[in-house]
Amino acid sequence: TGEPLSFAGQVAVVTGAGGGLGKAYAILLGKLGASVVVNDLGGSATGQGSDSRAADVVVEEIRKAGGQAVANYDSVEEGDKVVETALKAFGRIDIIVNNAGILRDKSFARMTDADWDLVHRVHLRGSYKVIKAAWPHFVKQSYGRIINTASAVGLYGNFGQTNYSAAKLGIVGLTKTLAIEGQRKNILVNVIAPNAGTRMTATVMPPEMVEAFKPEYVAPLVAFLGHSSNEETGGIFEVGSGWVAKVRWQRSGGVGFPANRTLEPEQVAQAWDKITNFDDGRATNPNSTQDSFQGFMENFGNIEEGGLDIAAVKKERFEV
Ligand code: NAI
Repeated sequence: TGEPLSFAGQVAVVTGAGGGLGKAYAILLGKLGASVVVNDLGGSATGQGSDSRAADVVVEEIRKAGGQAVANYDSVEEGDKVVETALKAFGRIDIIVNNAGILRDKSFARMTDADWDLVHRVHLRGSYKVIKAAWPHFVKQSYGRIINTASAVGLYGNFGQTNYSAAKLGIVGLTKTLAIEGQRKNILVNVIAPNAGTRMTATVMPPEMVEAFKPEYVAPLVAFLGHSSNEETGGIFEVGSGWVAKVRWQRSGGVGFPANRTLEPEQVAQAWDKITNFDDGRATNPNSTQDSFQGFMENFGNIEEGGLDIAAVKKERFEV
């Protein structure tokens, strides 16, 4: 199984580590030698109340196994306090696992502003706040590893979870751009969409499935992405039940209409089958905004006899 991944001398912050997936991450990182900040507000699955016991129990478990850990009970909305705990207790920070989360599931028609806002504050803003507080330290030491948590629901959608899926795909965007900004400083940022039997999913998964989808099957990927030997950044991974896969975008070959003629909606309608065809051998997997823009640039060469002056068209479209 290769060399053991050691985290000796490294400090990891795991948010929402009082239970479920976060607990499994904290325990594994502690076992591999990291000093761990076990953050957990200890509220309900819908984000009500707080309780310091959730984090304390995990800290106790890590210490009993011979590891180093301290608790932090703040909400991730106050990410600076979470990071401060790492600096005070251990003098540095190397790894962030943004994992804390809640659900406020409702059909969109019934969704209130409070349901929308709280889910965004915990997932997206919470991830932002913890990273924001740690970022200057990562830049200064030219080192950092960040693992954010999205969800299949963010990537693909699910009935009754508009608030959650929007926040989760927001976390993918946060990850993609931070990966670009951090690369020069060896700050690597990835995002996982996990599947695990926890209190969050116990209500929707049958008991046999909760048993098969152990959080311990997700933790090894998090440890790998958090390790100094990892070179992956900006990646999206689906993980659960011992299965790990990478996700990327795919774009159809598309249809380029003449760039020097006015485009009519009827032309779009006529070309619809081709616009939406992924199976004609022309589909690509754009991996950057530059890749994405390539398709537009190439179509500028698509000039039709008797059309408009292309220089004028370009000027009109891009120099407004
Ligand atoms: P969980 O409910 O067992 O654990 C979440 C933890 O976060 C709890 O201990 C909770 O107290 C803590 N927490 C909630 N709000 C907090 C806040 N404001 N500040 C600090 N801590 C807070 O849920 P689970 O399943 O372990 O979820 C972990 C992450 O994985 C979440 O981000 C969730 O959205 C995501 N996820 C889980 C899936 C699954 O199959 N279990 C599927 C897709 C995503």
